[in-house]
Amino acid sequence: MTRTAIEEGQLGGRRLQRVVFTADQVRTRVRELSRDISIAYGAEDRLLLIGLLKGSFIFLADLVREITIPLHVDFLVASSYGAGKATSGDVRLLYDPASSLEGRAVLVVEDIIDSGKTLRKILPRLEARAPASLEVCALLHKRLSPADLDPRWVGFDAPNEFLVGYGLDHAEDFRHLPYIASL
Ligand code: IMP
Ligand code: MG
Repeated sequence: MTRTAIEEGQLGGRRLQRVVFTADQVRTRVRELSRDISIAYGAEDRLLLIGLLKGSFIFLADLVREITIPLHVDFLVASSYGAGKATSGDVRLLYDPASSLEGRAVLVVEDIIDSGKTLRKILPRLEARAPASLEVCALLHKRLSPADLDPRWVGFDAPNEFLVGYGLDHAEDFRHLPYIASL
């Protein structure tokens, strides 16, 4: 199926409503985030980026290529959504990062914060592994969750719509779109 066909809404009857952030907007913002992160940390911090799979895979890949300090990458797999559009709230950790976090600057890279349940479940588990610091970089934030989830870095405040593209999926579709659209 071509990208044009997807834009015309021929994918399983689901229609993209509108482009919320264009590929250009995303590129520019990701570059800014990378620059800010490069300034905030030094080589001695032994920065470790932990990407939450699968949604963060494109964001993380773009982010690290613009960061100018040494870093390592690991992943974490959590699942809460199934095929629906609403969080089940039952967050399961399917893979824990194998890297040692102790004494390191850890930066969790998340695609989007919706209810915040995923991060609220994951962050204490990472904190327990004694990182020197633990911060979050989220590309999108719907700002629905209470203020206790206020990541140090946020790409964009997102509308309260179901978003796809640039790593975000609906039932595994649309991840590859270079822009972010609402479904
Ligand atoms: P939370 O636990 O409700 O904050 O949801 C976090 C996870 O749900 C994100 O990492 C996404 O994978 C997924 N998610 C939340 N909102 C959306 C959306 O609008 N589109 C696609 N995935 C979403
Ligand atoms: Mg996710």
